[in-house]
Amino acid sequence: MTRIVYVNGAYKRYTEAAVHAEDRGFQFADSIYEVIDVLDGRLVDATRHLARLDRSLNELSIPPPMSNAALLRVIAQVIRRNRIRDGIVYIQVTRGAGPRDFALPPLGTLPTLVVLARAQRKGWAAELAETGIAVKTIPDNRWGRCDIKTVMLLPAVLAKDEARRTGAKEAWFIDAQGHVTEGASSNAWIVTADGTLVTHPLDRQILPGVTRATVMDAAKAEGLNVEERSFSVREVLSAREAFVTSATNIVMPVVKIDGAPVGDGRPGPLARRLRLRFHHIAEFSAG
Ligand code: PDD
Repeated sequence: MTRIVYVNGAYKRYTEAAVHAEDRGFQFADSIYEVIDVLDGRLVDATRHLARLDRSLNELSIPPPMSNAALLRVIAQVIRRNRIRDGIVYIQVTRGAGPRDFALPPLGTLPTLVVLARAQRKGWAAELAETGIAVKTIPDNRWGRCDIKTVMLLPAVLAKDEARRTGAKEAWFIDAQGHVTEGASSNAWIVTADGTLVTHPLDRQILPGVTRATVMDAAKAEGLNVEERSFSVREVLSAREAFVTSATNIVMPVVKIDGAPVGDGRPGPLARRLRLRFHHIAEFSAG
């Protein structure tokens, strides 16, 4: 349960935590965010998440609300005040509040910062990974800067809803060339017949996933071959395995795409191996 939320300098009770009615995050989605996993009271890959937060702010010229050292202290307080051992931390920064205007607000407008934490039952993702998930393909109708982690998530919300209505847990976005870009809230991977791991290259079509980067480190440490290139839905159907990566799912096997089995229709050995390796490779830091 979330009890306390940090909003702009104060720790508020959950029911009272609020931002301004004219916050630009609310009106324009002029805002970025991060989700960091908390395991045994420690932050997973905080350095990479905060580096991406800095990058997102920088790409949109939103001034950082505080230093990363100060932000880490706020995150630690939020974890402590909510007594989180296992769960997530959600960090959101907006360009601030002011009378609604498409023009950027005057210099000196203070960004809005919200930090909240939520407990999640330890082991839920590991249990789900035992059976794997189904995905549904959806045309990628997002904007041209999916590399920035903005809260402009309506395409992802609608895609996931459509996926869920067909019994799939995740949507895989398909670009105009018929290639899988990424999941609605995860990066997409396949394992080819010769055992090569394939995932979309880092460009403006996908989010540079932190888990993607750490899984890549894990794959290299395991001596696996990784190719960063696009792959088609047809390639998924002839793949040996498929999986998604994200901070909360870590490595989640994909066993079905649009109702058709992937590989033998069961979680594959490489996804399992990478899932097990992940926490040996990821950075853990005090929360
Ligand atoms: N989503 N791609 C998209 C579009 C995402 O929204 C996410 C994360 C990822 C995976 O990134 P990472 O490995 O850094 O979590 C890829 C988060 C978890 C969310 O929105 O809840």
